[in-house]
Amino acid sequence: MSSPRGEFSSTFGFVMAAAGSAIGLGNIWGFPTQTAQNGGAAFVLFYLILTFVVGYPVLLAEFTIGRHAKSNPVGTYQKIDGGKNFVPAGFLGLFTVGFILSFYSIVAGWLTAFFVHPLLKMIGADSAAQWVVSQNTTSTVLFGSIFFILTILIVVGGIKNGIEKWSSRFMPTLLIMMLVLVGYVVTLPGAMEGVRVYLLPDFDKTMNPQLILSALGQAFFSLSLGVGGMLVYGSYTKKSENLVRLGTLVTLCDIGVAFIAGMLIIPAMYAASAAGTEIFDANGNLISEGNLIFQVLPALFDSMGTAGIVVSFLFFFLMVIAALTSSISMLEVPVAYAVDNRNMSRKKAAMLIGGFFWIVSIIIALNMSTLFSGVITLTTKYSQPILGLIICIFVGWVMNRNKLLEELKQGNPEIGNSLFMKIWPFFLKVVSPILILIVFLQSFISW
Ligand code: TRP
Repeated sequence: MSSPRGEFSSTFGFVMAAAGSAIGLGNIWGFPTQTAQNGGAAFVLFYLILTFVVGYPVLLAEFTIGRHAKSNPVGTYQKIDGGKNFVPAGFLGLFTVGFILSFYSIVAGWLTAFFVHPLLKMIGADSAAQWVVSQNTTSTVLFGSIFFILTILIVVGGIKNGIEKWSSRFMPTLLIMMLVLVGYVVTLPGAMEGVRVYLLPDFDKTMNPQLILSALGQAFFSLSLGVGGMLVYGSYTKKSENLVRLGTLVTLCDIGVAFIAGMLIIPAMYAASAAGTEIFDANGNLISEGNLIFQVLPALFDSMGTAGIVVSFLFFFLMVIAALTSSISMLEVPVAYAVDNRNMSRKKAAMLIGGFFWIVSIIIALNMSTLFSGVITLTTKYSQPILGLIICIFVGWVMNRNKLLEELKQGNPEIGNSLFMKIWPFFLKVVSPILILIVFLQSFISW
């Protein structure tokens, strides 16, 4: 029987939803571009290590306290002994994730426009096709709003019939389509150079400390950590689930898709370069991230003729669904708070809170030059690492160790004597907080 606050119905559904949250623009766009910028395989190596050393312990901490309290970030800190002082951090999480959703939906709106573009071209509506991808204010607001409304509708559907259902459909589709596209892109002229850059480390760049810090930031954003998204999903799992195993699966899916995305985007960039699109500036640095996704790939697709229309349609469809399974996990955090703590109906909560952040996203879209990058910096570079650090402190130092163990034992009775229980708490107490602090201070310096 499912509890009134909703529950994932199967292990598969949960893994798809949590992997769906983790896998998003951060993996499919952020990871490949950062890799290309930071010496290829060297960056990949650090990203992998840091995901396991920092990301995985924090992910598991979120799952565990969320399921223990069966609540949202605010309710979780309210319910667990010693958590009272941490409640403001819960609220900060609700707002942070709402603002992340507000800018994420703008970018996802552009992707939605690029998805509609080949459809319009196919029916011969060329000037409309040009207009939708022009990224002018009207089209930005229009497509951002379409994406936002889709997000709200799925969240209104609830856990089983909304989030789980759509994630379970979208995630396997995403994987299959990515593999098909990789198979196609590596056959293009020039693509093999990209494969080489991706898989062979450039040791000159490995020596750059910036690389390690970027890799840590990437690991952190990619696993959706800090703001309580994974905590809320953890709260919807059954007590019979083995959280350690689920956390491992989700982490492996996240890394796996990032890796495949690299195999897609980096060769595609080099193929685009071979086809005459500029991808490097005069100093040999990659042109900016925004330009890459919205100029280089469409240029590559254009150069492919009719096949390009189909490939472009598939590619942007894939980006939109990856973004959608992430955006629903964002909206779910404040919605869970309204449902758990304020007794609001899910529908009303999703519409009110979704509506609020939708307006915020329109305000950002109308003031792109002043607000957009500031909101991204504040939420992802400041708020997220601080909140992640606070979770480490709470679970590592404040929360009763026996309670933690008891929670993990449900669904995993053997865990008490395992090596895992000797290592994980130490990571949460010492290793992860120190590394998060380093990232935070670094981003503070580079503000
Ligand atoms: N992890 C997602 C990505 O890689 C984005 C995401 C989803 C996220 N939920 C989040 C980021 C919560 C920060 C916080 O695109």
